[in-house]
Amino acid sequence: MHHFNYLDGQLHCENVPLDTIADAVGTPCYVYSSATLVRHARVLAEAFQGQDCLIAYSVKANGNLAVLSTLAREGCGADVVSGGELQRALRAGIPAGRIVFSGVGKTAPEMQLALETGIHQFNVESAGELRLLSGVAERLGKTAPIALRVNPDVAAGGHPNISTGKKGDKFGIPWSEAEDLYAEAARLPGIAVVGVDVHIGSQIGDLVPMRAAFEKIVGLAQRLRTAGHKITRIDVGGGLGIPYKAGDAPAPPSAYAGMIAEVMDGLGVQVILEPGRVIAGNAGVLLATALFEKPAPDRTFLILDAGMNDLMRPALYDAHHDILPLREPSESTPNKRYDVVGPICESTDKFAVGRDLPEIASGDRVAFMSAGAYGAVLSSAYNARPLVPEVLVSGETFAVVRRRPTFDEMVELEKVPDWLTQTE
Ligand code: LLP
Repeated sequence: MHHFNYLDGQLHCENVPLDTIADAVGTPCYVYSSATLVRHARVLAEAFQGQDCLIAYSVKANGNLAVLSTLAREGCGADVVSGGELQRALRAGIPAGRIVFSGVGKTAPEMQLALETGIHQFNVESAGELRLLSGVAERLGKTAPIALRVNPDVAAGGHPNISTGKKGDKFGIPWSEAEDLYAEAARLPGIAVVGVDVHIGSQIGDLVPMRAAFEKIVGLAQRLRTAGHKITRIDVGGGLGIPYKAGDAPAPPSAYAGMIAEVMDGLGVQVILEPGRVIAGNAGVLLATALFEKPAPDRTFLILDAGMNDLMRPALYDAHHDILPLREPSESTPNKRYDVVGPICESTDKFAVGRDLPEIASGDRVAFMSAGAYGAVLSSAYNARPLVPEVLVSGETFAVVRRRPTFDEMVELEKVPDWLTQTE
C-alpha cells in the first residue's frame, strides 16, 4: 500500500501533484510520502502487538533526517551500521536505548561513540570485533550489551548480491563456531551477552527460509541458556520483501509476525526487528524528465535526466522499478518499447531494457516507483552530477528535505595545492 495515485489525470503523492514538485525542485528528485512511511510503521507495529518487540528501522535503507524523524515519532528505534548512521538516528530523536549497531567493520571510535551514548545492543560479527569491543568498553568503564550475529547457513532466494546468510558470505559468525565464541564472550570483562542475532538477506518474499533460520536460532538460544548465558533478546534482522511490480506477492507483515510468534513461542525474549525496505521502499519515487528519444536499428532508447548515479538498483541488481508517466496516459496513447537509460558514461546506466511504456515525448516526466529504499542513500556525484534532492510530502504540503547542492558546494571540500597555483 502506498499513497502514489493518479488523480484528475496527474500522478500525485498524497494530495500533491508530482508535477508541482518537479516544477519547484527540478528533476531528478526523490519524493517520499509521510503517510506511507507512517502506515508501514503502524502495520508492522500492529502485526507485532502482544509480542515484546523493538522495531529498529534499518537506517541504511533511507537515512534522510526527515524520514528518520517521521519514524521516530512513530516510536521506531534504529538499526545502524556506522557512526554516521548512529548520529543520524540520534539527531532525528531516536533514543539511544532503541538503537542496535550492526555491521562487520565497526571501528574503535565508532564503538566508543555507541558506548558513550548507551545504545541497546551491539550485533557482533567476529571474534576480533568482540575482543576490540571488550577492550574499548573496559577502558570507558562500561559493559557492552551484545548479541553475536550468527550465520545459519540458510539460502534466502532473492538476488545473490543481497543474500547474506549462507556459508561463505562475509556476514555473521560461522554456525559451527558460535557456541565457542559465546563462551569467550562470557569471559570478556567489557561484554555482557544479551542475545542472538541473525539476518539472512533482503527482498525475501517467502517465509520458508526465514522460518528455517529462526528455528535454528531458537535452538541455539536454548543451548546457550543451558550453558548459562542470559539470552533475553533475539534479533531477527530485516529482509522482508515488497512488491515491485504487478503480480509480486511477498509475505505480508501479518504472516511474518505470526510466523515469528510461533517460532519464539514460550522463549520469553524481546524480538528485535530491523526492517528497512518494507517501511521505506514503496514510500518513495524518483522523478525524471525524458531528454531525448534516440532510435537505433534494433531498439529505441529513451534517455532520461536521471542516471545510475541517482538510482543504482537496476545497474547493481538488475532490479525492476515500474516507470509511470506523471500525466496519466489516455486510452488512445499508444505503447512503445524502450530501453530506458540515463546520461552516465557507463554501459550499465540502464533502467529498463525492452520495456513497453505509454509513448513518452521529450520533456515528459516519469516516476520510478518503489524507490524509497536503497535509492537516494546509494546515490553518488559521479560524472560531476549534483547529488539528487529529496522532498517529503505530507497531505497537501511538501518540503525539500535535502536540497540540490550548488556547484560551489560540490567542490568546496577540494583544494588545489599551492604548487599548482603559484606562477614562476
Ligand atoms: N539488518 C541488516 C543486518 C542488514 O544487512 C540489512 C540490509 C537490513 C537489516 C535491512 O534489510 P531490509 O529490511 O531493508 O531488507 N541495496 C540492496 C539491499 C541491501 C540490503 C543490505 N542489508 C537493494 O537495493 O536491494
